[in-house]
Order: sequence, then C-alpha cells, then structure tokens
Amino acid sequence: MSPPKRILILPGDGIGPEVSSIARELLSLVDQKYSLDLEISEGLIGGIAYEETGDPLPQETLDKAKISEAIFLGAVGGPKWDQLSPDKRPEKGLLGIRSEFDFFANLRPAILSKELVSASTLKEEKVSGLDLLIVRELTGGIYFGEPRGIIEGSEALNTMRYSKTEIERIGRVAFEAAQKRDGKLCSVDKANVLEVGVFWRDVISELSKEYPEVELTHMLVDNAAMQLVREPKQFDVVVTGNLFGDILSDIAAMLTGSIGMLPSASLNGSSKGLYEPVHGSAPDIAGKDMANPLGSILSVAMMMRYTFHEEEVAIAIESSVESVLASGKRTQDIAMETNSVIGTKEMGREVLAKMESLK
Ligand code: IPM
Ligand code: MG
Repeated sequence: MSPPKRILILPGDGIGPEVSSIARELLSLVDQKYSLDLEISEGLIGGIAYEETGDPLPQETLDKAKISEAIFLGAVGGPKWDQLSPDKRPEKGLLGIRSEFDFFANLRPAILSKELVSASTLKEEKVSGLDLLIVRELTGGIYFGEPRGIIEGSEALNTMRYSKTEIERIGRVAFEAAQKRDGKLCSVDKANVLEVGVFWRDVISELSKEYPEVELTHMLVDNAAMQLVREPKQFDVVVTGNLFGDILSDIAAMLTGSIGMLPSASLNGSSKGLYEPVHGSAPDIAGKDMANPLGSILSVAMMMRYTFHEEEVAIAIESSVESVLASGKRTQDIAMETNSVIGTKEMGREVLAKMESLK
C-alpha cells in the first residue's frame, strides 16, 4: 500500500481560519469521494504563530511542512502586528515558507467566470472571456535581495537582484505554460531604468530560442499595469519578477470581479506545492462570515491538479463553483442587486453539496 498523501493546512490570520476550514471540508469530501487517501494536519503560521510561540514560522510548522506533499495557506497579517519589526511580522512566516521550500514559481490565473461579467469594474466587452495567467517569480528579487536594512534610522535599502539561473527557471515555467495555452508570453520588466530589467529581458529572449512556437513580447511594468486595465484580453501568459508580480496580480485579480475569487499555486519544480487564495487576511471582515471562500476552494482545485495530478477532481471542483455562481448565490464582494447574498459558510456548503451530487 502506498503511504497517504499528506496535506498541511496553515489557517493563519484574519479571514484565513474561516476560508481554511472550508478548504479542509472540501479536502475531506474529495478524499472520500475519489478515494485519494489524504492525511490532513494543521499548523501555525503568521500572527497567530507569533502570539503562541514568538515566531511567525515555528520549527514545528516547518517540520510538518517538510513531510507534506501539499500545503494550504489561508492568509497572514493584520493591524495588530503592524508595529513589529520585519523579521517578526506575520508576513515573514509566509515569505519564510516560500523560500524554505524553494516555491519559486507562483501561478496566479485570472479567469473571469461568465457568471461574474457584471461584477467586474471594467466594461463587459473588455473582460468577458478573460483568461490570463500571471507567472510570478516568488523567491528572489527585491523581496529577498541582500544587502537590506534600515541604517541608523537615517536610511533604508533593499536590493533587486536576479541571477541567470533564477530567471531561466521561472522563464521555463512560463514558456511551458504558454505552450499549453494560447502560445503567447509577455515578459514584464523595467529595462528602461533598471540593470536587472535589462538582464531579465536578455535572459528571457535567449531562452525563447528553445520555444520557437511561443510568441514572446516584452513590456515595461508601468505600461503593463495600464494595459491590464485598458485591454486585458491581449494577454495570455505574463511572466515577471517578485515585486512586479505582486502588484500586477492584484490588478489582474480585480478584473475578475473580486480578489476573493482568485487561487494560486506556488511550485518548486517537484510536485510539492503551496496553495493560497490571493486575497489577504482582510481584518475588516474577519470573523463575520463574510469572506469569499471561492479563492480557497479554487486553490484546492489547483492542488489537485499540480501536486496530485488529479485533473478530474480539479475540474469537478471548478465546475461546481461555476454552477453555484450560475444559481445566483453570491458572497457580498461579488453580489449584484439581483443576487441573494450568502455568507462564507453557506457558500462553502453550496459548493460542497454540488460536489456531492456529481457522478
Ligand atoms: C501576496 C501577498 C504577499 C506578498 C504578502 C502578504 C507578503 O501580498 O501573496 O501577494 O507580497 O507576496
Ligand atoms: Mg500581494
């Protein structure tokens, strides 16, 4: 008998626990329904971990993560911890786990459900049918570059640095994704100002020779931000560094109606992956049963696809979400006047019931 597939759930802060508990229920359901033999455990990360252990990423969590094939993370952070130094902040836990397991390839799809066309802030014809993928480099760039620090209260610095190897490996992920999609890749940098941008562009251009069937374009990040809201459907796959990817993926998320809808996968070249909804901890609505759990539910679908290679399960989850949206049920962030607004738990129950009824 093969060993069970271990999954670690890290609920974290804010709305993290609410959306994670729905992810957990969904995992139990697919475990039974598709006989996946999952073994689910939980751990501490972020502000809650700091409160309980003095460390936003305790050793115990790292140990559990090490033996898990997939990690689901709710969200980290909140105003309560704003005064802490960067090395103790909840975000440090998230950055730490990304870097500890080398989860360098962050996939952030922005797909507009046909049911949500009117929830987007952009005109219908600009966004209907939108399906783009942001591939964000996640373990390098200015987030991790040395030297960094605050110098005697008078100056502060961070370093944007990328090695050829780092650019090539994220580039390959992006080219391969484009091969499986519409064959278009847009690489985003700031080559008109930053040396790291010139280098990024050169390395990606060189790499493109290995992928002649992919049409490569380059775009400056400020223009890319504008193009994403001007004509988002011109994009298929976008590849970019850590900081630019952070910003552009929030823009792309909003095109789909709500950041609450968006899932993500962070991969390290093996099947191991970290799966998180793109939304943050949303402290303003935490504990109010208002958060949209669909970003988490769709992150579980990505886990099924990328770590466990269970495409059928992934599709079943995604189509269950579509049919719940089609029934007109919405959390407050994606509701229009004609919709019935439901809470986090009820939205979770709706998707689970739909899943149950399949096959
Ligand atoms: C994200 C978040 C994180 C990031 C924060 C919480 C550290 O904004 O996943 O996009 O900047 O990467
Ligand atoms: Mg972000």
